[in-house]
Amino acid sequence: MLQMKIEGNRILEGIVKVGGAKNSAVALVPASILSDGVITIDNIPNISDIDALNEILEFLGAKVEKKEGTMTIDSSTITNKEIPEKISKKLRASYYFMSALLGKYKHVEMYFPGGCSIGARPIDQTLKGFKTLGAKVKEEGNKFIIDAEELIGGHVYLDMPSVGATINTILVAVKAKGETIIENAAKEPEIVNITTFLNNMGAKITGAGTSEIRIKGVEKLGKCFTEVIPDRIEAGTYILAGALMGNKLRIENIIPDHVETLTLKLKEMGVPMEIGDDYIIVSKTDNLKPIRVRTLGYPGFPTDLQQPLTTLLTLGNGVSELEETIYENRFQNVEYLNKMGANIIIDGRKIKIIGPTVFHSETVKATDLRAGACLILAALKSDRITTITEIEHVLRGYENIVEKLSNIGAKISIEEI
Ligand code: EPU
Repeated sequence: MLQMKIEGNRILEGIVKVGGAKNSAVALVPASILSDGVITIDNIPNISDIDALNEILEFLGAKVEKKEGTMTIDSSTITNKEIPEKISKKLRASYYFMSALLGKYKHVEMYFPGGCSIGARPIDQTLKGFKTLGAKVKEEGNKFIIDAEELIGGHVYLDMPSVGATINTILVAVKAKGETIIENAAKEPEIVNITTFLNNMGAKITGAGTSEIRIKGVEKLGKCFTEVIPDRIEAGTYILAGALMGNKLRIENIIPDHVETLTLKLKEMGVPMEIGDDYIIVSKTDNLKPIRVRTLGYPGFPTDLQQPLTTLLTLGNGVSELEETIYENRFQNVEYLNKMGANIIIDGRKIKIIGPTVFHSETVKATDLRAGACLILAALKSDRITTITEIEHVLRGYENIVEKLSNIGAKISIEEI
């Protein structure tokens, strides 16, 4: 077990560089096995979710090389084996292997994926995509046995714009016969990154970034090189750190459009910012206005920044309101923020944040990845040393977080207990 210690109340200044997007990279890596050639992916983040996917690739027999953020994957040697449950439940994205293996071999046996415990997170829409393209799905407890004599393009309507179901349906459709249309598709930038990657391999996908994606099946996919886009959630987390404790903190390697819903909200609150072509400079202020926020699929306010934003909202001069529309259990951070001095009331899918708060250091628990990020932000604003347990969750999605925060003036360490 790992825990983090942070000495609070230190000014953050200098430069922090954002890494590759977790939620893109974790799909690009499994998608690479659809290719018959060698795949090179640049700007791969140094996070434990990637290590888990690497473990799966190696289990399947792929040849993988990873050097300084570049990953080379040769899957010409893989076999279609059942991935052990103890590996696949390490992360949500393991189910991108379900679709990639099904798309490649028309047969897959795999377990229900893992991921942060922030809601039920069923996979019915993914299975609907598979079935629409002709696959038969058998469930044996936690295990799925999926077969298709032939995969044939079809018309898939997603009940909600699910990121995972959109990507899984694309991965099965790229080599299916004929055309697949996904209606009510997710529009996240990560989807565009993945379809660009597949098109570079030879796939025929149009409409990514809109709610209707069309995929014309092709027989073969070849070698290609691609780059992971910057992580908009990591970027947003450091922007929030700057709004809490920054003195002209410069966050680099950002696509400002991808974080616009956050920066617009911060402007409403009165956070001083300079937004450049690929950087944002942000400073703290004591005069924060309360706001109202509602999470939505892209381009709405991202649920993955909801918990980190909550820390800043506690400093507002008045009552802020936040509604979480994506996940039913993404307020587990509230108990710990309140332990540190916040005044937050949960009412179903909404919270009321009564500011301003003066944080004091405590021992708190990272219940999930973004809850951990939220508590790190609160610790940076606290009076003394905060201890955050179960910090493994944070290492799943924030690369080199100790180094990055230390470089800008934080006093932070991780220890094994
Ligand atoms: N949903 C269903 N049925 C489905 C699929 C989704 O009911 O078949 C529901 C989910 O339960 C959830 C909502 O639809 O309430 C949205 O789920 P979605 O499928 O979009 O999420 P996901 O693909 O499982 C990805 C990210 C999440 C991020 C969401 C939303 C990855 C590996 N995970 O999850 O990232 O919150 O999209 O943007 O890409 C994180 O990074 O902290 C994280 C949780």
